[in-house]
Amino acid sequence: MTADTRERPVDQLTEAEAAAELAALADEIAAHDRAYHQADAPTISDAAYDALRRRNAAIEVRFPALKRDDSPSERVGAPVAAGFGKIRHRVPMLSLGNAFDEDDVADFTARIRRFLLLKDEDPLAIVAEPKIDGLSCSLRYEDGVLVEAATRGDGQQGEDVTANIRTLPDTEVPKRLPAGAPSVLEVRGEVYMTRDDFAVLNAGRAERGEPLYVNPRNTAAGSLRQLDPTVTAGRPLRFFGYTWGETSAPFAETQWNARRRLAEWGFPLNEPAARCERPDDLLAHYRRLVADRATLPFDIDGVVYKVDRLDWQARLGFVSRSPRWAVAHKFPPEQAQTLLKAIGIQVGRTGALTPVALLEPVTVGGVVVARATLHNEDEIARKDVRVGDTVTVQRAGDVIPQIVGVDLDRRPADAEPFVVPERCPECGSLAIREAGEVVRRCTGGLICPAQAVERLAHFVSRDAFDIEGLGYKQIKLFFETGRVTRPVDIFTLERREERRLDKLVNVTGFGRKSVENLFAAIAARRTIPLDRFIYALGIRQVGQATARLLARHYGSLGAWQAAMAAAAAERTAHPEATKPAEVGETYDALCAIESIGLAMADDLTSFFAEPHNREVIADLIDPAQGGLTVTDVAAPQAADSAVAGKTIVFTGTMEAMGRAEAKARAEALGAKVAGSVSKKTDYVVVGADAGSKEKKARELGLAILTEQEWLDLAGSG
Ligand code: IVH
Repeated sequence: MTADTRERPVDQLTEAEAAAELAALADEIAAHDRAYHQADAPTISDAAYDALRRRNAAIEVRFPALKRDDSPSERVGAPVAAGFGKIRHRVPMLSLGNAFDEDDVADFTARIRRFLLLKDEDPLAIVAEPKIDGLSCSLRYEDGVLVEAATRGDGQQGEDVTANIRTLPDTEVPKRLPAGAPSVLEVRGEVYMTRDDFAVLNAGRAERGEPLYVNPRNTAAGSLRQLDPTVTAGRPLRFFGYTWGETSAPFAETQWNARRRLAEWGFPLNEPAARCERPDDLLAHYRRLVADRATLPFDIDGVVYKVDRLDWQARLGFVSRSPRWAVAHKFPPEQAQTLLKAIGIQVGRTGALTPVALLEPVTVGGVVVARATLHNEDEIARKDVRVGDTVTVQRAGDVIPQIVGVDLDRRPADAEPFVVPERCPECGSLAIREAGEVVRRCTGGLICPAQAVERLAHFVSRDAFDIEGLGYKQIKLFFETGRVTRPVDIFTLERREERRLDKLVNVTGFGRKSVENLFAAIAARRTIPLDRFIYALGIRQVGQATARLLARHYGSLGAWQAAMAAAAAERTAHPEATKPAEVGETYDALCAIESIGLAMADDLTSFFAEPHNREVIADLIDPAQGGLTVTDVAAPQAADSAVAGKTIVFTGTMEAMGRAEAKARAEALGAKVAGSVSKKTDYVVVGADAGSKEKKARELGLAILTEQEWLDLAGSG
């Protein structure tokens, strides 16, 4: 590599030049890391060091296949002293959708039947097994030997808990598999603690005068996530296997038989499970588990239903983060009565005032609850909840506890109805409830400290920038001491504090090491995928799923920004319009993205209409300030498929695979599926009895395909 290669724009590098430069950068950055962290004697400026890391990341983004095992971007600063190493899941670890009642379960099976185009008389076998309340974990075996164990983490990347998992007995987690197991096998399941083991553990603690653990689930999770494996070794952890990730070869054709194979290889299974041929059998198994719940040796919080045939599972695939072929039928929530001591007001990141019930602490389903949400003022009025009341609190899974009712017989005579404050308790600004809205909002905007802190905390949260060591507490402290008041300040913090490190250490109470770790964690996030970036901005209504849709649709930050600015200008020019097409072309195209409606488009355009919001983005990517690299989000997979990047609208009834499956297939091939026909549509696929969309497509002169033509084009006919 010559010196001038390094100067060349990344998009002009050949593959060989890129590989050579990545190798050189890995060595160079590692040497700087050692100089900085171990010898405490840096040899280059931080800015120059950051430039090296950014260059490395940019090359990796352009040539993902060249990314090295020792890539600097996989390391946060120094060797990970504090915290766990990270393991990227080769197959993402997903979560499950929920069914709360029998109707939801009926919807689940009906959806599957429609998707697979099954007739009523066609059998659909489903496996029902307990949903165990623990911590999910993926165990990787290569040539029959346990080589890696990771927690779920964010589903894409988990914590490396290999050393801890090795401390579990062989009867729970075999360290070697018998001959016949696939040469690569990732077994996934739950690490948990039985109720008896938990009781014994707590009895020991009581004897020694140590504080008691709250419940088996949290204790199991805490025990596995110990930095020192000898601590884990002293805790009675167990494991159930129930699914798998990467495998070098298929090992079963059904879920039921896959369970058998797991058992043959030595993995304990979550029992009692049942293979059910009829919907009634599913519900019978559910009722049996509800009845037996208290006598099982471990806590369960529902029953998981999984389509038995694995080829059907593959066809059904996933929506967002959960499989279509499985669902968790949750047990009814647990409830308890307690005293409502006061009603507090919380101010959220969008200025929403949320009333919160402050309760006399009470145990609900094994967890102590002292706060519950009251949603909004209408809800308080509807339930007529008053301070001093005895209320029923309900907890379902991980959701925030709720107040479900009031015991009027126990109401004190002097209890007064709750009066909603008209000013924000945090900044004193007027709090206004607009017509048609249930939420009252603080009008203070950026001057309201609560909003600013909440927005910053959202910005660094797990699904956004995910900056380790920078949680709510730290953000609040940095905000209150004036160090971080805008997102970009996070990325200039190190530069600004360099010379005053001792002061920072004093003020924050962080050790020098944690400050360094924090800076490294921030630096590691200077390159971020577009979807996370959009989500991090905290635009109203724009959650993770929408952020992903937008990122995939527009592809790059530049394209998205340009489109949003154009749509915002169109909206400002036509504030009264009620149909997307009347607003303007870009706005209309935004609304054509499936699941984006007028309300959401308005939230996006009002965000972009505000100069200070546009400034937030500009500052973040400005090389002289935040210096962020926002990476493009490619359409999923198969960029070379015939329909990659095309916008397709399906209309009418499909024969071969059903609308839902056709849509999923198109998306897997990299196409965008839109809900309505516009000039931007590339293909309109018409099934039987198509109506107005076909007419509009003909009027616009768009390419119209029959279902068979579509199948041919998609390569699956
Ligand atoms: S299957 C693709 N089966 O529940 C989805 N998950 O709420 C694979 N869980 O993250 C999950 N018992 O940690 C499955 N019998 C069971 C389970 C189970 C508990 C957990 C798992 C998952 C979470 C989703």
